[in-house]
Amino acid sequence: MRAEGTPLKGDSTTESTAASSPVATDPAVRVGTAVDDRFEGARLDHAGAMTYGDYLHLDEILGAQHPRSPDHNEMLFIIQHQTSELWIKLMLQELRAARDRITTDDLQPAFKMLARVSRIMEQLVHAWDVLATLTPTEYSALRPYLGSSSGFQSYQYRELEFILGNKKPVMVKPHAHRNDLHERVQRALQAPSLYDEAIRLLVRRGFAIEGTDVERDWSQPREFCETLSQAWLEVYRKPEAHWDLYQLAEEFVDLEDAFRQWRFRHVTTVERIIGFKTGTGGTAGVAYLRKMLDVVLFPELWKVRTDL
Ligand code: HEM
Repeated sequence: MRAEGTPLKGDSTTESTAASSPVATDPAVRVGTAVDDRFEGARLDHAGAMTYGDYLHLDEILGAQHPRSPDHNEMLFIIQHQTSELWIKLMLQELRAARDRITTDDLQPAFKMLARVSRIMEQLVHAWDVLATLTPTEYSALRPYLGSSSGFQSYQYRELEFILGNKKPVMVKPHAHRNDLHERVQRALQAPSLYDEAIRLLVRRGFAIEGTDVERDWSQPREFCETLSQAWLEVYRKPEAHWDLYQLAEEFVDLEDAFRQWRFRHVTTVERIIGFKTGTGGTAGVAYLRKMLDVVLFPELWKVRTDL
C-alpha cells in the first residue's frame, strides 16, 4: 500500500518526458501515429503510475450502479440520484466553509463559495430535464423494485436543508437506524445555520436585533424577526455603507432562488411521472412536495423587497 498523495513511479517524469519525446518535437512524426509508448505525446504505458481512474476511484463509482429490475430505464433513475448526491456533497462542503468564513468575518471567500453553490443548484435544476424523459409507463416498471426507499431519506439533503436553516427535528428520525448517519444529521440540526451566522455578523456590526437570535436552541426553526428585517432594510437602503453585507444578502437570495427552482422542478417532474399517487417514502407525494414550496429560508431578505 502506498500513502495517499505519494507520487508513484513515473508520476514526476510525465511532463519532462513529454517535452523531450520524439512525438512532441519531431515535425516528421505524423499526427495520430503511435510511436513506442506514446500517442500524440500522451503516455500509453501506465504500469506503476497513478491513472485517471485510480485518482478518481472510478472502479468504485462506476461499479456502484446495481439495477434491481430488468428494466432498461433503471440506470437513468439510479444515475440521476447518484449524481445529485455527489453535487449535494460538494454543496455541503462549500456551505460549511462559507459558514466558517462568515463566523470569522472573512466574507470575500464566502461570496465565492456561495456563488459556486448557486451554480451547482442551477445545474441540478436543469438535470430534471433528463429525468423528465422517464415516462409514467417506464417508471411503473421500476416502482415495485424501489420498495420504501425515497429521496425523503437522503441524509445529505437533510443536512443541506438544515445548514440552510430549514430546521425540523422530526427529520432526523428516518436515520435513527444508523448511528453514523443519525449523528451526522443531528449535528447539522444542532449547529447554527448559514443565516444564523449572518445574523450574528449583523450584531457584531452594531445592528440592534432584538430578541436576538445570537444564542438560541439552533435545532428549532427561527421565527420571523422584525428588527432583523429592519437591519437588512438599512443595508439595502445604504448599500455603499454596508457593501459586503449587501453582497452577502444578495448571495443568499440567489441561492434561495435557485433552491426554489429545484423544488419546483422536482414536484413538476414527479407529477408528470406519478401523478397524484403516494410516494415510495409514504407521503401523499405531490401534495407533500407542494407544501415544501412554501418554505422560506431567508424571510427577512424577501420582505426587504416589499419594504424598500
Ligand atoms: C422519478 C423520479 C422521482 C420521483 C417519482 C420522486 C418522488 C418523490 C416523492 C413522492 C417524494 C415525497 C416523499 C415520498 O413520499 O417518497 C420525494 C421526496 C424527495 N425526493 Fe424525489 N422523486 C424523484 C426523483 C428524485 C431525484 C432525482 C432526487 C435527487 C436527489 C430526489 C430527491 C428527493 C428528496 C431530497 C426528497 C425529500 C424532499 C423533502 O422532504 O422536502 N427525488 N420524491
